[in-house]
Amino acid sequence: MSRQGSYVIDDHEKGIFLLDRIVHVSEDVLRDEMKNIFAKCWIYVGHGSELKKPGDFHTRKVAGRPVIFGRDQKGVVQCFFNTCRHRGAIVCADRTGNARRFFCVYHGWSYNNDGDLARVPGEEAYTEAFDKKQLGLKGPAKFENYRDFWFLNLDPNAPSLKDYLGKATEYIDLVVEQSPSAKMEVLPGTQEYAVAANWKLMVENSVDDYHLPSTHSTWLNFMANSGVKMEAPTEPNQILPTKGYAVDLGNGHFTTDNVNFRGRPVAKWIPLYGEEAEAEIADIRSELVERLGPERATRVADTNRNLVIFPNLVINDGSSVTIRAFYPEGVDKMNVVAWALGPVEESESARARRLDAFLTFYGPGGFATPDDVEALEMVQKGLANWSDDRWSEMSRGMGRSEEEQLNSDEFHLRLFWRKWDAMMKEEA
Ligand code: FES
Ligand SMILES: [Fe+2]
Repeated sequence: MSRQGSYVIDDHEKGIFLLDRIVHVSEDVLRDEMKNIFAKCWIYVGHGSELKKPGDFHTRKVAGRPVIFGRDQKGVVQCFFNTCRHRGAIVCADRTGNARRFFCVYHGWSYNNDGDLARVPGEEAYTEAFDKKQLGLKGPAKFENYRDFWFLNLDPNAPSLKDYLGKATEYIDLVVEQSPSAKMEVLPGTQEYAVAANWKLMVENSVDDYHLPSTHSTWLNFMANSGVKMEAPTEPNQILPTKGYAVDLGNGHFTTDNVNFRGRPVAKWIPLYGEEAEAEIADIRSELVERLGPERATRVADTNRNLVIFPNLVINDGSSVTIRAFYPEGVDKMNVVAWALGPVEESESARARRLDAFLTFYGPGGFATPDDVEALEMVQKGLANWSDDRWSEMSRGMGRSEEEQLNSDEFHLRLFWRKWDAMMKEEA
Protein backbone atom coordinates (compact mmCIF):
# COMPACT_ATOMS: atom_id res chain seq x y z
CA MET A 1 0.00 0.00 0.00
CA SER A 2 1.42 3.35 -0.89
CA ARG A 3 0.68 6.44 1.12
CA GLN A 4 -0.13 9.79 -0.37
CA GLY A 5 0.30 11.84 2.77
CA SER A 6 3.37 12.59 4.79
CA TYR A 7 4.29 12.00 8.40
CA VAL A 8 6.23 15.26 8.54
CA ILE A 9 5.49 18.94 8.07
CA ASP A 10 8.62 20.38 6.53
CA ASP A 11 8.14 24.13 6.11
CA HIS A 12 11.39 25.67 4.88
CA GLU A 13 9.87 29.11 4.52
CA LYS A 14 8.81 29.36 8.14
CA GLY A 15 11.69 27.22 9.36
CA ILE A 16 9.43 24.71 11.06
CA PHE A 17 9.69 20.90 11.04
CA LEU A 18 7.08 18.78 12.79
CA LEU A 19 6.82 15.00 13.11
CA ASP A 20 3.56 13.11 13.41
CA ARG A 21 3.75 11.16 16.67
CA ILE A 22 1.75 8.33 15.15
CA VAL A 23 5.08 7.05 13.74
CA HIS A 24 6.06 5.83 17.22
CA VAL A 25 2.79 4.21 18.27
CA SER A 26 1.04 2.72 15.25
CA GLU A 27 1.07 -1.00 14.39
CA ASP A 28 0.25 -0.07 10.78
CA VAL A 29 3.32 2.13 10.59
CA LEU A 30 5.51 -0.69 11.95
CA ARG A 31 4.09 -3.13 9.40
CA ASP A 32 4.83 -0.66 6.59
CA GLU A 33 8.33 -0.09 7.97
CA MET A 34 9.10 -3.80 7.74
CA LYS A 35 8.18 -3.69 4.02
CA ASN A 36 9.37 -0.26 3.01
CA ILE A 37 12.45 0.20 5.18
CA PHE A 38 13.76 -3.11 6.53
CA ALA A 39 13.05 -5.10 3.36
CA LYS A 40 14.65 -2.41 1.14
CA CYS A 41 17.70 -1.08 2.96
CA TRP A 42 21.05 -2.67 3.72
CA ILE A 43 20.76 -3.93 7.29
CA TYR A 44 23.80 -4.65 9.46
CA VAL A 45 24.42 -8.32 10.29
CA GLY A 46 27.84 -8.45 11.93
CA HIS A 47 31.59 -7.94 11.66
CA GLY A 48 33.85 -10.50 9.97
CA SER A 49 36.15 -10.58 13.02
CA GLU A 50 33.36 -12.23 15.00
CA LEU A 51 34.00 -15.32 12.88
CA LYS A 52 37.63 -16.13 13.52
CA LYS A 53 37.74 -19.79 12.40
CA PRO A 54 35.92 -21.88 9.79
CA GLY A 55 32.71 -23.12 11.39
CA ASP A 56 32.28 -20.15 13.76
CA PHE A 57 28.74 -18.80 13.76
CA HIS A 58 26.33 -16.46 15.52
CA THR A 59 22.56 -16.61 15.27
CA ARG A 60 20.83 -13.22 15.18
CA LYS A 61 17.55 -11.60 14.32
CA VAL A 62 18.12 -9.08 11.56
CA ALA A 63 15.39 -7.17 9.69
CA GLY A 64 12.87 -9.29 11.60
CA ARG A 65 14.45 -12.54 10.29
CA PRO A 66 16.30 -15.15 12.33
CA VAL A 67 19.62 -15.62 10.51
CA ILE A 68 22.84 -17.58 10.86
CA PHE A 69 25.95 -15.44 10.37
CA GLY A 70 28.84 -17.84 9.94
CA ARG A 71 32.12 -18.78 8.27
CA ASP A 72 32.07 -21.98 6.21
CA GLN A 73 34.83 -24.61 5.98
CA LYS A 74 36.37 -22.73 3.04
CA GLY A 75 36.55 -19.54 5.12
CA VAL A 76 33.74 -17.74 3.27
CA VAL A 77 31.47 -15.51 5.38
CA GLN A 78 27.86 -16.63 4.94
CA CYS A 79 24.38 -15.53 5.94
CA PHE A 80 21.43 -17.93 5.91
CA PHE A 81 17.85 -17.68 6.99
CA ASN A 82 17.65 -19.86 10.07
CA THR A 83 14.80 -22.03 8.82
CA CYS A 84 14.72 -25.63 7.66
CA ARG A 85 13.73 -26.26 4.05
CA HIS A 86 11.54 -29.17 5.20
CA ARG A 87 8.94 -27.57 7.48
CA GLY A 88 10.62 -24.42 8.61
CA ALA A 89 12.02 -25.14 12.07
CA ILE A 90 15.13 -23.21 13.00
CA VAL A 91 18.18 -25.35 12.28
CA CYS A 92 20.46 -23.71 14.82
CA ALA A 93 19.20 -22.93 18.31
CA ASP A 94 22.56 -21.90 19.79
CA ARG A 95 23.43 -18.22 20.08
CA THR A 96 26.99 -18.84 19.02
CA GLY A 97 29.41 -21.71 18.49
CA ASN A 98 31.44 -23.64 15.95
CA ALA A 99 29.83 -26.30 13.75
CA ARG A 100 30.50 -28.10 10.48
CA ARG A 101 26.81 -28.85 10.18
CA PHE A 102 23.50 -27.44 11.30
CA PHE A 103 21.11 -30.12 12.37
CA CYS A 104 17.33 -29.74 12.40
CA VAL A 105 16.02 -31.53 15.48
CA TYR A 106 12.51 -32.00 14.06
CA HIS A 107 13.04 -34.69 11.37
CA GLY A 108 16.79 -34.70 11.33
CA TRP A 109 17.73 -32.96 8.06
CA SER A 110 21.24 -31.56 8.28
CA TYR A 111 23.04 -28.81 6.39
CA ASN A 112 26.73 -28.13 5.82
CA ASN A 113 27.95 -24.77 7.04
CA ASP A 114 28.02 -23.54 3.42
CA GLY A 115 24.24 -24.10 3.38
CA ASP A 116 24.11 -27.31 1.30
CA LEU A 117 21.59 -29.91 2.39
CA ALA A 118 23.85 -32.77 3.50
CA ARG A 119 21.60 -35.51 4.79
CA VAL A 120 17.92 -36.42 4.75
CA PRO A 121 16.96 -39.41 6.89
CA GLY A 122 15.03 -41.99 4.84
CA GLU A 123 15.89 -40.28 1.56
CA GLU A 124 14.77 -43.34 -0.49
CA ALA A 125 11.10 -42.49 0.24
CA TYR A 126 11.21 -39.51 -2.16
CA THR A 127 10.74 -39.54 -5.93
CA GLU A 128 13.41 -38.48 -8.41
CA ALA A 129 11.95 -35.00 -8.49
CA PHE A 130 13.24 -34.48 -4.98
CA ASP A 131 16.47 -32.56 -5.57
CA LYS A 132 18.70 -32.12 -2.57
CA LYS A 133 20.81 -29.58 -4.44
CA GLN A 134 17.84 -27.25 -4.59
CA LEU A 135 17.12 -27.60 -0.90
CA GLY A 136 20.09 -25.87 0.70
CA LEU A 137 19.51 -23.16 3.28
CA LYS A 138 18.31 -19.94 1.70
CA GLY A 139 19.91 -16.59 2.30
CA PRO A 140 19.01 -12.93 1.80
CA ALA A 141 18.88 -11.60 -1.78
CA LYS A 142 22.18 -9.79 -1.19
CA PHE A 143 24.94 -10.08 1.39
CA GLU A 144 27.98 -7.82 1.07
CA ASN A 145 30.62 -6.19 3.20
CA TYR A 146 32.47 -2.93 3.39
CA ARG A 147 35.80 -3.33 5.22
CA ASP A 148 34.45 -6.43 6.98
CA PHE A 149 31.20 -4.79 8.14
CA TRP A 150 28.62 -7.24 6.73
CA PHE A 151 25.10 -6.23 5.71
CA LEU A 152 22.18 -8.07 4.14
CA ASN A 153 19.56 -6.80 1.77
CA LEU A 154 16.23 -8.54 1.16
CA ASP A 155 15.66 -6.65 -2.08
CA PRO A 156 17.22 -8.25 -5.20
CA ASN A 157 17.04 -4.87 -6.96
CA ALA A 158 18.95 -2.97 -4.28
CA PRO A 159 22.08 -1.00 -5.26
CA SER A 160 25.44 -2.40 -4.14
CA LEU A 161 26.35 -1.88 -0.48
CA LYS A 162 29.18 0.47 -1.49
CA ASP A 163 26.79 2.66 -3.47
CA TYR A 164 24.25 2.57 -0.68
CA LEU A 165 26.81 3.64 1.92
CA GLY A 166 28.11 6.43 -0.32
CA LYS A 167 29.91 9.08 1.69
CA ALA A 168 29.39 7.14 4.94
CA THR A 169 32.35 4.98 3.81
CA GLU A 170 34.68 7.92 4.58
CA TYR A 171 33.66 7.76 8.22
CA ILE A 172 33.99 3.97 8.36
CA ASP A 173 37.51 4.47 6.93
CA LEU A 174 38.32 6.83 9.82
CA VAL A 175 37.48 4.00 12.21
CA VAL A 176 39.44 1.33 10.35
CA GLU A 177 42.53 3.56 10.01
CA GLN A 178 42.94 3.46 13.79
CA SER A 179 44.57 0.07 13.27
CA PRO A 180 48.14 0.06 11.85
CA SER A 181 47.23 -3.00 9.77
CA ALA A 182 43.71 -1.67 8.94
CA LYS A 183 42.28 -4.58 10.90
CA MET A 184 39.67 -3.93 13.53
CA GLU A 185 38.10 -6.65 15.62
CA VAL A 186 34.96 -6.99 17.68
CA LEU A 187 35.96 -7.71 21.26
CA PRO A 188 34.46 -10.64 23.11
CA GLY A 189 31.33 -9.78 25.07
CA THR A 190 28.14 -8.24 23.77
CA GLN A 191 25.92 -5.71 25.44
CA GLU A 192 22.26 -6.40 24.93
CA TYR A 193 19.28 -4.63 26.40
CA ALA A 194 15.63 -4.04 25.69
CA VAL A 195 14.10 -0.57 25.72
CA ALA A 196 10.38 0.06 26.06
CA ALA A 197 10.36 2.61 23.26
CA ASN A 198 10.04 2.81 19.50
CA TRP A 199 13.27 1.96 17.66
CA LYS A 200 13.44 5.30 15.87
CA LEU A 201 13.81 7.12 19.17
CA MET A 202 17.21 5.39 19.50
CA VAL A 203 18.31 6.76 16.12
CA GLU A 204 17.59 10.25 17.37
CA ASN A 205 19.09 9.70 20.80
CA SER A 206 22.35 8.29 19.42
CA VAL A 207 23.20 11.56 17.67
CA ASP A 208 21.23 14.19 19.58
CA ASP A 209 23.79 16.28 21.44
CA TYR A 210 21.10 18.71 22.58
CA HIS A 211 20.21 16.35 25.41
CA LEU A 212 23.72 16.04 26.86
CA PRO A 213 23.70 18.86 29.44
CA SER A 214 20.31 17.86 30.85
CA THR A 215 20.14 14.05 30.54
CA HIS A 216 23.84 13.49 31.20
CA SER A 217 24.61 16.14 33.82
CA THR A 218 25.90 13.46 36.23
CA TRP A 219 28.44 12.29 33.68
CA LEU A 220 29.49 15.82 32.67
CA ASN A 221 30.07 16.68 36.35
CA PHE A 222 32.07 13.49 36.81
CA MET A 223 34.26 14.36 33.82
CA ALA A 224 34.81 17.92 35.05
CA ASN A 225 35.74 16.60 38.51
CA SER A 226 38.18 14.13 36.95
CA GLY A 227 40.30 16.92 35.54
CA VAL A 228 38.92 16.87 31.99
CA LYS A 229 39.06 20.34 30.48
CA MET A 230 35.45 21.47 30.15
CA GLU A 231 35.33 25.00 28.84
CA ALA A 232 32.09 26.90 28.77
CA PRO A 233 30.62 27.24 25.28
CA THR A 234 32.00 30.32 23.56
CA GLU A 235 29.84 30.73 20.50
CA PRO A 236 26.17 31.40 19.96
CA ASN A 237 24.06 28.23 19.62
CA GLN A 238 26.86 26.13 21.11
CA ILE A 239 25.80 24.19 24.18
CA LEU A 240 28.67 21.73 24.61
CA PRO A 241 32.28 22.37 25.73
CA THR A 242 33.55 21.93 22.17
CA LYS A 243 31.98 22.82 18.89
CA GLY A 244 30.65 19.99 16.79
CA TYR A 245 28.83 19.73 13.53
CA ALA A 246 26.20 17.52 12.01
CA VAL A 247 27.07 16.31 8.52
CA ASP A 248 24.74 15.04 5.80
CA LEU A 249 26.24 11.94 4.12
CA GLY A 250 23.35 11.35 1.70
CA ASN A 251 20.88 8.41 1.48
CA GLY A 252 19.64 9.07 5.01
CA HIS A 253 23.12 8.55 6.52
CA PHE A 254 24.70 11.28 8.63
CA THR A 255 27.20 11.85 11.39
CA THR A 256 28.07 14.16 14.18
CA ASP A 257 31.65 15.36 14.01
CA ASN A 258 33.05 17.15 17.02
CA VAL A 259 36.31 18.10 18.62
CA ASN A 260 37.05 15.60 21.34
CA PHE A 261 37.07 16.64 24.98
CA ARG A 262 36.53 13.28 26.64
CA GLY A 263 39.54 11.20 25.66
CA ARG A 264 40.13 8.59 23.00
CA PRO A 265 42.05 5.32 23.29
CA VAL A 266 43.40 6.26 19.81
CA ALA A 267 44.97 8.69 20.68
CA LYS A 268 43.96 11.46 23.01
CA TRP A 269 45.01 11.38 26.63
CA ILE A 270 42.86 12.76 29.46
CA PRO A 271 43.74 12.73 33.20
CA LEU A 272 41.12 10.04 33.79
CA TYR A 273 43.40 7.52 32.02
CA GLY A 274 46.11 8.04 34.64
CA GLU A 275 49.62 9.45 34.17
CA GLU A 276 51.08 6.03 33.41
CA ALA A 277 48.98 5.95 30.22
CA GLU A 278 50.29 9.24 28.86
CA ALA A 279 53.47 7.85 27.25
CA GLU A 280 51.68 4.94 25.63
CA ILE A 281 48.99 7.16 24.14
CA ALA A 282 51.72 9.48 22.83
CA ASP A 283 53.30 6.45 21.11
CA ILE A 284 49.99 5.45 19.54
CA ARG A 285 49.71 8.98 18.28
CA SER A 286 53.23 9.04 16.80
CA GLU A 287 52.46 5.86 14.90
CA LEU A 288 49.34 7.52 13.50
CA VAL A 289 51.24 10.63 12.43
CA GLU A 290 53.96 8.55 10.81
CA ARG A 291 51.52 6.35 8.94
CA LEU A 292 48.83 8.85 7.97
CA GLY A 293 50.54 12.23 8.08
CA PRO A 294 49.80 14.93 10.67
CA GLU A 295 46.53 16.14 9.18
CA ARG A 296 44.86 12.77 8.86
CA ALA A 297 46.20 11.72 12.27
CA THR A 298 44.55 14.76 13.84
CA ARG A 299 41.34 13.83 12.10
CA VAL A 300 41.47 10.26 13.44
CA ALA A 301 42.58 11.12 16.96
CA ASP A 302 41.05 14.47 17.84
CA THR A 303 37.46 14.22 16.67
CA ASN A 304 34.56 12.11 17.89
CA ARG A 305 31.92 10.91 15.50
CA ASN A 306 28.56 9.27 15.96
CA LEU A 307 27.75 7.83 12.57
CA VAL A 308 24.26 6.70 11.62
CA ILE A 309 23.92 4.24 8.74
CA PHE A 310 20.27 4.41 7.77
CA PRO A 311 18.14 2.96 9.19
CA ASN A 312 19.32 1.21 12.37
CA LEU A 313 23.10 1.10 12.76
CA VAL A 314 25.19 3.52 14.77
CA ILE A 315 28.97 3.54 15.01
CA ASN A 316 30.02 5.61 18.02
CA ASP A 317 33.63 6.56 17.47
CA GLY A 318 34.49 8.31 20.72
CA SER A 319 35.94 7.23 24.04
CA SER A 320 35.73 3.73 22.54
CA VAL A 321 34.35 2.44 19.27
CA THR A 322 30.89 0.97 19.67
CA ILE A 323 28.85 -0.71 16.98
CA ARG A 324 25.24 -0.41 18.00
CA ALA A 325 22.25 -1.85 16.15
CA PHE A 326 18.66 -1.81 17.27
CA TYR A 327 15.71 -3.82 16.08
CA PRO A 328 12.00 -3.23 16.57
CA GLU A 329 10.18 -5.91 18.55
CA GLY A 330 6.85 -4.09 18.46
CA VAL A 331 5.88 -0.42 18.26
CA ASP A 332 7.00 0.28 21.81
CA LYS A 333 9.86 -2.16 22.23
CA MET A 334 13.31 -2.49 20.73
CA ASN A 335 16.26 -4.75 21.34
CA VAL A 336 19.62 -3.05 21.32
CA VAL A 337 22.88 -4.88 20.67
CA ALA A 338 26.26 -3.22 21.12
CA TRP A 339 29.77 -4.47 20.40
CA ALA A 340 33.13 -2.88 21.16
CA LEU A 341 35.55 -2.64 18.26
CA GLY A 342 39.31 -2.14 18.53
CA PRO A 343 42.56 -2.44 16.52
CA VAL A 344 43.78 -6.05 16.46
CA GLU A 345 47.28 -5.03 17.52
CA GLU A 346 46.20 -3.04 20.57
CA SER A 347 48.20 -3.60 23.80
CA GLU A 348 46.55 -5.00 26.90
CA SER A 349 46.60 -1.63 28.65
CA ALA A 350 45.12 0.25 25.68
CA ARG A 351 42.49 -2.47 25.36
CA ALA A 352 41.62 -2.05 29.04
CA ARG A 353 41.05 1.71 28.57
CA ARG A 354 38.83 0.98 25.58
CA LEU A 355 36.77 -1.62 27.43
CA ASP A 356 36.47 0.65 30.43
CA ALA A 357 34.84 3.36 28.31
CA PHE A 358 32.67 0.78 26.53
CA LEU A 359 31.40 -0.32 29.93
CA THR A 360 31.32 2.87 31.96
CA PHE A 361 29.97 5.27 29.34
CA TYR A 362 28.15 3.37 26.59
CA GLY A 363 27.25 0.26 28.59
CA PRO A 364 23.73 -0.49 29.85
CA GLY A 365 24.99 0.12 33.41
CA GLY A 366 27.29 3.01 32.44
CA PHE A 367 27.07 6.77 32.75
CA ALA A 368 25.14 7.41 29.56
CA THR A 369 22.91 4.53 28.60
CA PRO A 370 20.66 4.12 31.67
CA ASP A 371 19.82 7.84 31.53
CA ASP A 372 19.15 7.63 27.79
CA VAL A 373 16.96 4.55 28.19
CA GLU A 374 15.00 6.31 30.94
CA ALA A 375 14.50 9.37 28.72
CA LEU A 376 13.33 7.28 25.75
CA GLU A 377 10.90 5.30 27.89
CA MET A 378 9.53 8.58 29.27
CA VAL A 379 8.95 9.75 25.69
CA GLN A 380 7.15 6.53 24.82
CA LYS A 381 4.94 6.83 27.92
CA GLY A 382 4.06 10.42 27.05
CA LEU A 383 3.20 9.39 23.50
CA ALA A 384 0.08 7.60 24.78
CA ASN A 385 -1.34 11.12 24.37
CA TRP A 386 -0.36 11.19 20.69
CA SER A 387 -3.86 11.62 19.25
CA ASP A 388 -4.55 14.71 21.40
CA ASP A 389 -1.08 16.19 21.06
CA ARG A 390 -0.09 15.09 17.61
CA TRP A 391 3.14 16.78 16.54
CA SER A 392 6.69 16.61 17.83
CA GLU A 393 8.75 19.79 17.42
CA MET A 394 11.99 19.27 15.49
CA SER A 395 12.94 22.65 14.03
CA ARG A 396 16.10 23.38 15.97
CA GLY A 397 18.72 25.01 13.76
CA MET A 398 16.41 25.60 10.81
CA GLY A 399 17.13 28.90 9.16
CA ARG A 400 20.90 28.48 9.45
CA SER A 401 23.01 27.22 6.54
CA GLU A 402 23.95 23.56 6.24
CA GLU A 403 27.59 24.35 7.12
CA GLU A 404 26.47 25.92 10.37
CA GLN A 405 24.40 22.98 11.62
CA LEU A 406 25.65 21.92 15.02
CA ASN A 407 25.31 18.48 16.53
CA SER A 408 23.06 20.05 19.16
CA ASP A 409 20.69 21.16 16.39
CA GLU A 410 18.13 18.86 14.83
CA PHE A 411 19.34 19.13 11.24
CA HIS A 412 20.61 15.54 11.17
CA LEU A 413 17.47 14.21 12.80
CA ARG A 414 15.48 15.87 10.04
CA LEU A 415 17.69 14.12 7.46
CA PHE A 416 16.65 10.81 8.97
CA TRP A 417 12.99 11.69 9.03
CA ARG A 418 12.93 13.03 5.46
CA LYS A 419 14.51 9.84 4.15
CA TRP A 420 12.26 7.64 6.29
CA ASP A 421 9.15 9.56 5.23
CA ALA A 422 10.07 9.38 1.52
CA MET A 423 10.64 5.62 1.74
CA MET A 424 7.37 5.08 3.58
CA LYS A 425 5.52 6.73 0.69
CA GLU A 426 7.00 4.43 -1.94
CA GLU A 427 5.12 1.48 -3.36
CA ALA A 428 6.66 -1.49 -1.51
S1 FES B 1 11.44 -29.30 9.88
FE1 FES B 1 13.54 -29.67 9.68
S2 FES B 1 13.68 -31.76 9.25
FE2 FES B 1 11.55 -31.41 9.34
FE1 LIG C 1 22.54 10.26 25.65
